[in-house]
Amino acid sequence: MKLSAFGEKFGSTTGIQVLMDDIGDALASGRDMILMGGGNPASIPAVEAVFQARMARLAAQPELLNQVLGSYDPPQGNATLINDLAALFRQRLGWQVSARNIALTNGSQAGFFMLFNMFAGPFKDGTQRQIQLPLAPEYIGYADAGLGADFFAAAHPQIDQLGQREFKYRVCFDELEIGDQTGAICVSRPTNPTGNVITDEEVEHLDALAQANDIPLIIDGAYGVPFPGLIFTQATPFWNQNTIVCLSLSKLGLPTARTGIVVANEEVIQTVARTNAIINLASGNFGALLTQELVHTGEIIDLSNQVVRPYYEQRLDFVKSLLHREMDNTIPWAMHKPEGTMFTWMWFKDLPISSQELYERLKARDVIVVSGHHFFIGIKDDWQHRHECIRVNYAAQTPERIEKGIKIIAEEVRKAYLG
Ligand SMILES: Cc1ncc(COP(=O)(O)O)c(C=O)c1O
Repeated sequence: MKLSAFGEKFGSTTGIQVLMDDIGDALASGRDMILMGGGNPASIPAVEAVFQARMARLAAQPELLNQVLGSYDPPQGNATLINDLAALFRQRLGWQVSARNIALTNGSQAGFFMLFNMFAGPFKDGTQRQIQLPLAPEYIGYADAGLGADFFAAAHPQIDQLGQREFKYRVCFDELEIGDQTGAICVSRPTNPTGNVITDEEVEHLDALAQANDIPLIIDGAYGVPFPGLIFTQATPFWNQNTIVCLSLSKLGLPTARTGIVVANEEVIQTVARTNAIINLASGNFGALLTQELVHTGEIIDLSNQVVRPYYEQRLDFVKSLLHREMDNTIPWAMHKPEGTMFTWMWFKDLPISSQELYERLKARDVIVVSGHHFFIGIKDDWQHRHECIRVNYAAQTPERIEKGIKIIAEEVRKAYLG
């Protein structure tokens, strides 16, 4: 069988797929692995109780059950949820949006696929455009989402040292090249993998650049405001007619509901809806029906602020204290300032082995993290820094297992530096 260029590209081995296969193989080995690699949200009993109650109601009421199981929504998504989301965004965030500014997709991942290919790749006039990441490391899931080759460009971040054990990436505007070759700017806020939250000033600067170049600014709020609210620092929610905000129900605790939310101007929403009709016919409405009431009453934001965020903050405090206790202080370990998400991003400057080798050694000891080199999407050179970092999920395992995992990480890092 001969595959098309599409078949070849999407059927070939991608970084994310190798990584997932590798983790899958480790799990299939039957060993008791400490999984600190993936992006699974924590299982939070108080949140699960809310979903359990709502699921029971959906199952008990025939007309609700029919909506969940037996009826297609329009390609733009479930109209009731969209109306309620628009009201919520107007009331709680002050965004001037109506139902015509919102579309639902099967997970925000599917939304990114549509958006990226709407704004980058070949254009009718023969030109070619790219998605510009203001800084890398960035979300690994973007890496292969372009239909064409050479789809992303990224600038190196500026690294600000904040004391001995913390640093923060900042957008290096001097390095950022935005011009005719740029189709859109995209940044996750907070950023997976680093937990960075680009500042309000950085967002405003990016917005000004986007507007000046007549391209959209895409802000990926999968972990952000208003839900699930995994931001531990000051960050003003940002949206305007030139900005596309992508949200998700996944990190609230519903990754299998596959519900992504795109907030954009009407033209973009219409294009997303039409694309969704071709690719998916309709989006699944399980997530919509499960969360309709929470959105209608605004409880989704209160749940995020009062239950979800504090849960992760507590976990973060725990992992920070473990790191300070377990890591050998004679070696140059540091973590990115943890401003959001569920990950700690660790940097081992001048590490004598690569982060991939460190990943292998940890895997041999039944601890799974992610080697940082996967996340430097759009960085064309072989920057040493990309081989010196790992991403660690501090929320998806019990505290006892996190403690065990951190101890093993500390031992292996020490061995790597000191033999
Ligand atoms: C930054 C970021 N954006 C988007 C996604 C996609 O999430 P989903 O498709 O589950 O909405 C993820 C998933 O981990 C993520 O980390």
